[in-house]
Amino acid sequence: MEIAQSVNLQAYNTFGVPATAAFFASIESKENLEKALQYAAGESLPTLVLGGGSNVLFIRDYAGLVLHINNRGIKWLEGLAEDSQRVRVAAGENWHEFVSACLAKELYGLENLALIPGTVGAAPIQNIGAYGVELADFFVELSCYDREQNQWLSLTREQCEFAYRDSLFKRSGGRYLVFDITLELDKDWKPNLSYQALAGVIGEVDPSAQQVFDTVCSLRREKLPDPNDLGNAGSFFKNPIVSDEKYAALQKQLPGLPNYAIEEEGLTKIPAAWLLDQLGWKGRRRGRAQVHKHHALILVNPGYALGEDILLLAQEMSSSVLENFGIALEPEVQIL
Ligand code: EPU
Repeated sequence: MEIAQSVNLQAYNTFGVPATAAFFASIESKENLEKALQYAAGESLPTLVLGGGSNVLFIRDYAGLVLHINNRGIKWLEGLAEDSQRVRVAAGENWHEFVSACLAKELYGLENLALIPGTVGAAPIQNIGAYGVELADFFVELSCYDREQNQWLSLTREQCEFAYRDSLFKRSGGRYLVFDITLELDKDWKPNLSYQALAGVIGEVDPSAQQVFDTVCSLRREKLPDPNDLGNAGSFFKNPIVSDEKYAALQKQLPGLPNYAIEEEGLTKIPAAWLLDQLGWKGRRRGRAQVHKHHALILVNPGYALGEDILLLAQEMSSSVLENFGIALEPEVQIL
């Protein structure tokens, strides 16, 4: 395994902003990972795990060692029940290609998560979700390297502490490095049309898995810019969770404010995009950074933006939401 120096990260983040990594290693095996960690320890370098770079914003150069997780492979395993099958997939695989491979194998459940950018290894970090489905719904376990105990571990779904765009990994400051994940998928097809916008577009009670997959792809293509055409990292902020009382008060100020029910009693989730749109943020440009023309929650790099330009715009957006509605937006994107 080679440790490269002064590597430009522009091609390794979907915002497409420039930043230089002092050291960079492409990780293809467990052995690679252990060696790279030993190197970092020997040189007292901090490390940063990078998958597809679809949820990060670099605001400065990185002085440590970037571990680009690039292992490959999908293993189709036996299921625990007759009507399910397990699959173990390497962290370095592309998420969308994996979803497509499952559909081709007639293993169901992940269709609503089609076209989410990034790698498989990044999926558990923020418990990716879309159109009424979350990774946690199909998750069994993952294998990871624990940097505190210096050992390989297997963590179950409970141990991963999944929540809305959150997990143990988000809170443990890089302690665990995900190597592969295991999911249990259904052999019998049952659509999940709990997300109104999806059900509305499909307009059929009993669509095929391919139909749901295709609809999710076209919905995303319509609304969310393709990072290959226009740099972005999907939703920049999380949708805020507020108390029922706060929601009632906001509704008086903002008639028509939508909300989504969540499991926790007394709390509800509201769309940050809707709030930002009320404040006129859609399409607005600040210097070299811009809010997407079709979606107020998506910041884009029209070409020459630096990470700092995007951060300044994001700060201005969250300040305006705080001033006007008393809500502190939390970034979903990791700022580095
Ligand atoms: N809306 C506006 N103005 C806009 C955009 C949206 O008023 O400019 C309204 C919509 O009409 C809708 C509401 O805001 O009533 C929510 O919009 P949307 O359906 O686009 O979903 P979202 O809440 O913005 C979330 C996820 C997305 C995921 C979609 C679909 C978060 C932070 N974002 O977006 O995930 O694809 O739902 O399930 O939870 C991501 O995490 O990067 C991501 C793209």
